[in-house]
Amino acid sequence: MGSERFGLYGRAVIDVWPDIAPVAGTPACGPPAFEPGSGWWVTRHADVRAALTDPAFRVPAVDSGPPGTLAWLRASVSRFSPPQRHAERRAIGVTALAELNPDELRHEAARLTVALLDRAGDHLDVMRELARPVPLRVLAVQLGLVDPAAAGTAVAVVAAAYHPGVDPALAERADRAVAALLALCPPAPLEVRANLIGLLVQACDATAGLIGAAAHHLLSPAVPITARTADLLTEVLRLDPPVRATRRVTVDAVRLGGRDLPAGSAVLLRFDAANRDPRAFAEPETFRPGRPGAGLLTFGAGERGCPGDRHALALAGGVLDVLRERCRRTPTPLRHEPHPTLRVPTTVEVSVR
Ligand code: HEM
Repeated sequence: MGSERFGLYGRAVIDVWPDIAPVAGTPACGPPAFEPGSGWWVTRHADVRAALTDPAFRVPAVDSGPPGTLAWLRASVSRFSPPQRHAERRAIGVTALAELNPDELRHEAARLTVALLDRAGDHLDVMRELARPVPLRVLAVQLGLVDPAAAGTAVAVVAAAYHPGVDPALAERADRAVAALLALCPPAPLEVRANLIGLLVQACDATAGLIGAAAHHLLSPAVPITARTADLLTEVLRLDPPVRATRRVTVDAVRLGGRDLPAGSAVLLRFDAANRDPRAFAEPETFRPGRPGAGLLTFGAGERGCPGDRHALALAGGVLDVLRERCRRTPTPLRHEPHPTLRVPTTVEVSVR
């Protein structure tokens, strides 16, 4: 599948779109279904959006820990906060993000990518060298952290242990990284620093996953693509989302998509399935950059939807603009880091010129 447009000197340029099949285990869209062991799976676009915006569905509670630890960080950031604390904490992150100019983020991400490619040999692993370090370094500079390189390394350690239920060994390393990050933040009350760190941690793996997926799908050795980077990234986010799902728990008995969910039900909202719902996207399996409508669910929706969506697209766009100019993917099999809801490639090898 592709599209024809006219390039320089009136010659036809054919874009050949990647064919991005659903990841193994992605369910088809249907009414909410109870899956023994993991709770209710919600797969239809309208149902996922309804659950994200209905107060009967809460983010699962997390335990806290001594100040300065990973458990304390989780319990202090807006992402895992209960409704009564969420708005004020979210406002800390939203205010900090409002100070950042996405065009500048994009420019800085591109500049840093060029500098790193100039220093690389003729091959490079996008995941190790660029996908985490570049967005984190740019964000850490802009958010005023001292020693942005050290901050980036510490954020990656925290991100690996951030979602509840992680291996205790990772959590112990993450405790030290949280303490280091608190010391690198600009002076501010503890809760403000926690939510600045929260921005970096939220940005880390999801943005890296987007960059990795885009590099894998778009830097094909044979077929350069001419469509706008932003439109390409949006389709990658839809068809190969770095955040495949998010969790909720019902606080009351609630009816969703024609099913009755009892109070206290665990719910998994499947962005990967909902982004392929034929009721929301015409020919959902087709990669079509610039498709109309704003139905993408990969950034969530409602009061807890991602406040860093434009920033993520700007950072990934800056990296991708340069990769498209200078890199082609080495055809190696793609593997992903083990994670229940995130999808981050382990390595994406490219040749560099
Ligand atoms: C491709 C990259 C990204 C994706 C796919 C993504 C996706 C998401 C999703 C789905 C949520 C909501 C989770 C839920 O409702 O359960 C979320 C929340 C959040 N994201 Fe992102 N995100 C990305 C990048 C970023 C970046 C770059 C930042 C900051 C610079 C950021 C900051 C946040 C914050 C602070 C929250 C919590 C919001 C709240 O507590 O209300 N994200 N993100």
